[in-house]
Formats: sequence, C-alpha cells, structure tokens
Amino acid sequence: MRSHYCGHLNESHIDEEVTLCGWAHRRRDHGGVIFIDLRDREGISQVVFDPDTVEAFATAEAVRSEFVLRVKGRVRRRPEGTENSDMATGQVEVLGKELEIFNRAETPPFQLDIEDDEVSEEHRLRYRYIDLRRPAMQQRLRLRSSITRALREYLDDRGFLDMETPMLTKATPEGARDYLVPSRTHPGRFFALPQSPQLFKQLLMMSGMDRYYQIVRCFRDEDLRADRQPEFTQLDIEASFMDEEELMGLMEGMMRELFAKTLEVALPKPFPRMSYAEAMQRYGSDKPDLRIPLELVDVDDLMAGVEFKVFAGPADDPEGRVAALRLPKGCELTRKEIDDYTKYVGIYGARGLAYIKVNERAKGRDGLQSPILKFLPDEAIDGILERTGAEDGDLIFFGADKASVVNEALGALRVKLGLDRELVERGWRPLWVVDFPMFEHEPKAGRWTALHHPFTAPREEDIDKLEGNPGECLSRAYDMVLNGTEVGGGSQRIYREEVQSTVFRLLGISDEEARDKFGFLLDALKYGCPPHGGIAFGLDRLVMLMTGASSIREVMAFPKTQTAACLLTQAPSEADPNQLRELGIRLRQPKVEEGGKGA
Ligand code: AMO
Ligand code: AMP
Repeated sequence: MRSHYCGHLNESHIDEEVTLCGWAHRRRDHGGVIFIDLRDREGISQVVFDPDTVEAFATAEAVRSEFVLRVKGRVRRRPEGTENSDMATGQVEVLGKELEIFNRAETPPFQLDIEDDEVSEEHRLRYRYIDLRRPAMQQRLRLRSSITRALREYLDDRGFLDMETPMLTKATPEGARDYLVPSRTHPGRFFALPQSPQLFKQLLMMSGMDRYYQIVRCFRDEDLRADRQPEFTQLDIEASFMDEEELMGLMEGMMRELFAKTLEVALPKPFPRMSYAEAMQRYGSDKPDLRIPLELVDVDDLMAGVEFKVFAGPADDPEGRVAALRLPKGCELTRKEIDDYTKYVGIYGARGLAYIKVNERAKGRDGLQSPILKFLPDEAIDGILERTGAEDGDLIFFGADKASVVNEALGALRVKLGLDRELVERGWRPLWVVDFPMFEHEPKAGRWTALHHPFTAPREEDIDKLEGNPGECLSRAYDMVLNGTEVGGGSQRIYREEVQSTVFRLLGISDEEARDKFGFLLDALKYGCPPHGGIAFGLDRLVMLMTGASSIREVMAFPKTQTAACLLTQAPSEADPNQLRELGIRLRQPKVEEGGKGA
C-alpha cells in the first residue's frame, strides 16, 4: 500500500516516486497551493498540491484534519528559504500527483499538537485513540516497547524461561484487595485475579524450571495514586540456587544494560546499598530519593526532659522520635510558606512543624528566630546547630511524634522542599534497600503483619528468634529504588515447610486457614523444594521514570482513572440480569436514603 513512512523521507529520496499513507495533520491553503502535513507513526511529511494536477487538487481541497489519506507523488528539495530544520523531513517535500481519501474524520475533540496538560485527562482518556496519535504518547509507548525488548533479551541470554501463569486463580496476598471473578460452573465460588504470580513462580522453581521470567499483568484493588494502577505490569523473575548477592548483581546488570541501550545512560556499578533502618533514619522513607541533598537528624537525646512537652514526650517514648531537617537558605521562607508546609505535613498526621531560623549563628540565641526558642535550654540549641551543621541563612524544621508519623511527615516534607526549592540534582540515583524487618507490628489490631509478603525468608541467623522476638527478625528482602520510586522488590523465599508454618502462625494465620489458602504450597514444600528467590519490577513505573512522564497513566495505552474506571469503554458497567442468574448472584438492593437517592 505504501512505499515509505512519512517520517522517513529525506534528501536521499529526492526525485523518487513515493506512496505515503497517514493522517492529515494540518492542511493549509497558500495562494492557490494546498499543503497537507501527512502524519504516520514515524513522523510528518509535507505534501504540496498545485492546481495543475486538477483531480488531486480538488480532492485536497476537501481534506480536513485527521482524514486518512494515501498520496502518490515525487520527492523534491524544498524551495530555498522554506526548509524546516525542526523536522526530520524538513529539507524535502512531496509534490502530490494522486490523492485518495480512505476515510473522512469528524473534527477531533482536541488538537493533536497539545501538551499533556492542555486538555483534561478525562477528555484524553475518553478519546484515548486520538490522544495516542499525539507524538508524545507515541514516543512513550515506543520507548516502552524498546524497554521490554531489552529486558527480554537480557533474561533470554541468561537462560531465563518465559512462562505464563494463570489469571483465574486463588488469592495471592500482596497487601491489596482482590478482584474476584465469579465461577458459573461452581456457583457461589470465586476466582481471584492475581495480585502477582508469586506462588506460581515459586511452584515453577519447585518444578525444577530453574530460571523463570514473565512480563505479566497484576491486579490490585487499592487506593490509587500517580504511580499505582489497579491493573499494572510486572517484570516478574525467579531463580533457584541463586542467593541474594548473585540475584542482585544480575538485576543491577540488567538495569545498567537497559539504561545504556535505551537511554545511553551509564548507571553506577555497583548500585549503593542501604539498610532499611538507615533509610528511615536519614530520609524518613524506605525509598529515599538520593537526588535531594536534605537529611533528617535525630535530636531525641537533646530533647529528653526539656520544658517543651511537645518534644520531651516523644523524646522519652521508645516509639517516639524527634528529628530535625535543615533547609539551606531556608531563612528566605515567608511566614505563609512555613504555614503552608505546616499544613502539608498535617496530611501525614503531624500536629505541627516547629522551626528555627538561623540568622546569625555566631550570635548564639540572639541570632536565632523561632517560636520554640524560649522552651529550649542552651545545650539543646547548641547541640541542634552542631548536629545539623546549620549555617547562617538556614532554617531547621522539627518533627516530634510517634516515629512512624515523624518519618512520614518529614520524609514527605524533604521531597516537597527538594522540588519547591529546586534542590533535586539531575541524573539517576539507583539504590538497593536491604535488611528489612520481617514483620511490622500493628498496634490497633495487636498483631504482626509481613513487611513484604509471607513467603519472604528470614535471615538464617534470625530463624530462632522468629517466635520469641519477631520484631527483631530481619528478612532476606531487597527493594530497588530509583530516584525515590520503588521500581522493584523481591526476596529469597522460605523453602522449608516448618519455617513457612511458623511464619503463618506468627501472622495470625491458623493452621486451618493456612491449609485452606496455601495448602498447595505447604504440600509442595514437602516434595523437594530448592532454595530460591526472585524479584518483580513495576514495569509501568520504570517506563514512567525513563520517559520522564508525570504518572504511570502516561505510559499505559489504556489506563484506568483514579477511581479505577475505564472512561473509554465505560467499564465497569452493570451486568445483564441473565448473566447474574447464571452465576448464581443476586445483587443487594442499594439502601434508599432519605430524599430517595440510592446510596
Ligand atoms: P511488590 O508488591 O513489591 O512485590 O510489587 C513489585 C513492584 O510492582 C510495582 N507495583 C505497582 N505498580 C503499579 N501499580 C501498582 N498498584 C503496583 N503495585 C506494585 C512496584 C513494586 O516494586 N511478588 C512480589 C515480588 C517478589 O517478591 O518477587 C511483589 O509483587 O514497582
Ligand atoms: P505550640 O506550642 O503548639 O504553639 O507549638 C509551638 C511550635 O511547635 C509551632 O511552631 C508548632 O507548629 C510546633 N509543633 C507543635 N507540635 C509539634 C510536633 N508534634 N512536631 C513538631 N512541631 C510541633
């Protein structure tokens, strides 16, 4: 049908007869000559129709935006002064001789030469097939394809086998709600869509497959954010007889090769590593963005027993934390800005945001400005200035509360300040976070939960501590963090049945429940399970970072909205009553509220 892509024409094609197919990007009438910018996936070529080619010219007059066309013509050099060096094809144009309209188009709901944020996202998602015609979207999805190709090549070359696992399955706990699918043949029973292929990839190791990978869809019904979707893609990996050192080395190598191949970026070798404890202490986060040169500093010991109860309380509480965050040149902040940051940390549960402005450090107390100064003794003040390394013009923020609140609040503030004050360094800062605790205590429920998933192995030396002192156990898990985003997470797995049963028990899963939910895994562990471990990368997140997109929705062809709906197809939608009957499902009538509106 065509001889060339529009976007491929250049001076080497001059005087050739070509046939192009594509969309009318723009049509201009210039004193009797008609110009059509013809667009396809590869780019745009300018086509000129002059009135001498009567038939083609008449057809060209009828062309409107987004008509689908085929043009036959001769490539020629653009007349001097009309070249466009911004376009790959800008030195040439096609003198159109024949023009065929394959299809007309209604006026598109928005222009195609807009930036992402010039039209509402709802509108873009509703007409996604038009949005996807925009060069920015095409480039992102093309890079996504190059990324998956490079990842596959790397893994194929190293003996990983690409294997599929079921979508209709039993729940795999990864911490979110399941999407359920009713079974027609087993009334009253449900499949769950996988939150990840975790259990199946472990079973593949028990099956002797040795090295597995899959680019696989996962489903999680959870609260959505810019980097979360209900349906997303993992690069899922598992290997037998490969410990964390070997696996992490291999995965770093994969990232380095990926970045070199697709972005021509050299990532560090090796990636730095940091323990979970250190990450929380210095950054208040287990996925610190190392591009931001701000750090939290502990001041608990300085605040224990001070008159200011807001600080003394948490300082004396083993579960509390008082931390300082120095902002260079922070004295520039206005009262209003500080108030706004105080509101901001409020989102994370902080009850205030104390601060000290360091106008002139040499003057001691007189050189400082702060609503809390009067409550603090000299030693505490000296200690704070010393420890934070404060210089004239800096501002020091404080958080005092339960450690979890302080970490979340100051961790988020750190990132916000980095962005607002343009402190984010350029480039790529990968990091492995390691030595995670096995369990987190949920004070409300009075029980332990798994920090990763319940199949994560404890460190060998901590196995004996599991029952007596679960809070002290560290796991063999690792997360890969890139510029403050968790791009991947994995672990070495439990491969002995006793250990798995102990962990289930600790998590409050009774033997009966464990059999009911994971009996197949416990059985499989009895029939010769090799030591194994793996990792899963959030492919959408990785592509988001690599394309510089603002959300993972920008790198998915057909994403869902923040409320987990598809605006294009209007899914989810109501089911036909007959279908429901077949499935043995009766819907509960929505409660009728006062005023007659359904709830
Ligand atoms: P985890 O739950 O950490 O691990 O998921 C792995 C990676 O998947 C990405 N991710 C998401 N991306 C988009 N939307 C979501 N809702 C979403 N949730 C997670 C993240 C995350 O790092 N089975 C384990 C892996 C293993 O142990 O091998 C697992 O699923 O980038
Ligand atoms: P108050 O005595 O409540 O007026 O607080 C004095 C200063 O301490 C104000 O700047 C508050 O924002 C700050 N503050 C109050 N509670 C906390 C807290 N939990 N952590 C950090 N700062 C706080």
